[in-house]
Amino acid sequence: MKKLFLSIFASTSLLMFSPFAQAEKNIELYEHGEEAHQTHCVKCHTSSVYTRETRFVKSMEALSKQVRRCKDNLGVAWFDEDTEAVAHFLNEKYYKF
Ligand code: HEC
Repeated sequence: MKKLFLSIFASTSLLMFSPFAQAEKNIELYEHGEEAHQTHCVKCHTSSVYTRETRFVKSMEALSKQVRRCKDNLGVAWFDEDTEAVAHFLNEKYYKF
């Protein structure tokens, strides 16, 4: 019994760290970010600011900072996870750092 429990434990923790679980988590992040972005972030600018030639965000760190800055301007109550999800989405879709 104890052995069985241990092996179940070992296989689920393996699963949690597997590349598949990571990919799944990334898809969730992306979808959450996309939705939050669509709801809150296309009021002042469209997504063309992320692709214009003169875009000023040049790194992942700068992207996270800018997302936070714009979010603070908006005054929406986002958790860090929401901000992170939007930064992840913008990076996957537009910036590709
Ligand atoms: C209150 C208006 C406003 C809202 C709402 C807003 N932004 Fe912005 N955002 C700006 C302005 C102004 C700029 C600078 C545009 C410029 O320089 O032409 C900007 C620029 C950006 C940039 C940098 C683009 C570049 O040049 O690389 C990112 C990224 C960004 N916003 C993300 C977001 C996200 C994510 C949200 C939703 C949380 C959001 N914005 C909502 C006003 C806003």
